[in-house]
Amino acid sequence: MKQKIVYVCSNCGNEFLKWSGKCDSCNSWNTLKGIKEDADRSQNEVKAADFIRIKDVKTAANQRIKSNVSEFDSVLGGGIVRGSVLLLGGQPGIGKSTLIWQVVNSTDMKVAYIAAEESPEQIKIRSSRIGKENNNVYLISSPEINSAMMAIKKISPELVVVDSVQTIYDSSYPSIAGSIIQVKQCAMKIMNFAKRSNIAFIIIGHVTKEGEVAGPKTLEHLVDGVFYLEGVADIPERFLRSQKNRFGPSEELGVFKMTQKGFSGEEDFGQKRLGGKLPSGIAVAAVNEGNRVYFIEVQALTQKTYFGYPRRNSVGYDLNRLNMIIAIISRSLKIDLSNHDVYLNVAQGYKIKDPSADLAVAAAIVGAYKNKPLSGKSIYIGELDLAGRVNEVINQNQKIKAAKKIGAVPIILKDLGSIGF
Ligand code: TYD
Ligand code: MG
Repeated sequence: MKQKIVYVCSNCGNEFLKWSGKCDSCNSWNTLKGIKEDADRSQNEVKAADFIRIKDVKTAANQRIKSNVSEFDSVLGGGIVRGSVLLLGGQPGIGKSTLIWQVVNSTDMKVAYIAAEESPEQIKIRSSRIGKENNNVYLISSPEINSAMMAIKKISPELVVVDSVQTIYDSSYPSIAGSIIQVKQCAMKIMNFAKRSNIAFIIIGHVTKEGEVAGPKTLEHLVDGVFYLEGVADIPERFLRSQKNRFGPSEELGVFKMTQKGFSGEEDFGQKRLGGKLPSGIAVAAVNEGNRVYFIEVQALTQKTYFGYPRRNSVGYDLNRLNMIIAIISRSLKIDLSNHDVYLNVAQGYKIKDPSADLAVAAAIVGAYKNKPLSGKSIYIGELDLAGRVNEVINQNQKIKAAKKIGAVPIILKDLGSIGF
């Protein structure tokens, strides 16, 4: 049988039957490389697919591997499901490897670690820094996926960690490690391997500056779960968010603190009792992540603009939404901020995504402008619309209940005009 040659673009991964100097799909030059098509993809060798009656499918009693890092397990929905492939994304240096070592070292499960980024010495230093070590971890230093798979078969672990997807490659494909085609190809191989062997995989992927995981963004639909580790460099809090989870709740949040000895779980993040008077410009919001309610401090500062155009600056909150709220304040409360700089900061490096924090943001800004301190017991709940009305938010009752439970007073208004400053 004649082997067919296909031309694959090493940039975008599209396949062509004919070679050309320019890729028709992504317009890159000189990126088409010829590869021999796999024998099992050839039409002539198609066999009837295997099938199984659903009632005959056996499920293992012990489906999940529990680590002893409870914030990690709860974000995953109760531990790592055997045979699943999870993607952990995040900015370089945010603590992805540290978190995974924390998880690995909290158990004595057998783990294979494909260490394509760091030397065994570097890894050992990190592992011992974290504390108790798991003596059942095997480092695989080959970044070539096929040879790494052979080693995995010999080790027969429960969990494989790939650190990172941008540094592994499949030698049967011509492009360099980190290119879209390599990342996809390696992920497909891992998916097939995981499903057949029932070994779970955690794939670590770096998010690039543009906010895409170079590769991992393109993997989100392939894998069983997608988790992102977020945070601000100089603030110790780290947030683990599930974005997709085939085996558990999505949009769950886990909070950690980066310490000298790895991560510590912050189970009481956003739950603490409040009280007393806050400095002016500070208001407390109630936001939902997954099933939990978090109380988050929003800080605002307003200041007369001395040079031309007023500044609007926001950390942890969408700048467009901040501009919208400033416009609503000026219309509904007749507060003219056109010659005031407005700075907004969300405490502890947290990023607010829940629109029910609108009212708290408005209260913080108005409080800052009028120099009026708010009570730490007041929790502002509500989403603003352009007419200045306060709309009921998702899980409003859950938020009210949670606020009352910590002895706080939920502030629910009909419209911004009745804020009472
Ligand atoms: P790392 O896990 O290597 O990040 P990533 O894998 O996401 O690139 O973490 C890098 C940072 O974490 C580094 O600046 C050092 C810091 N760190 C601690 O603060 N405490 C620790 O116990 C460890 C292991 C790292
Ligand atoms: Mg790393």
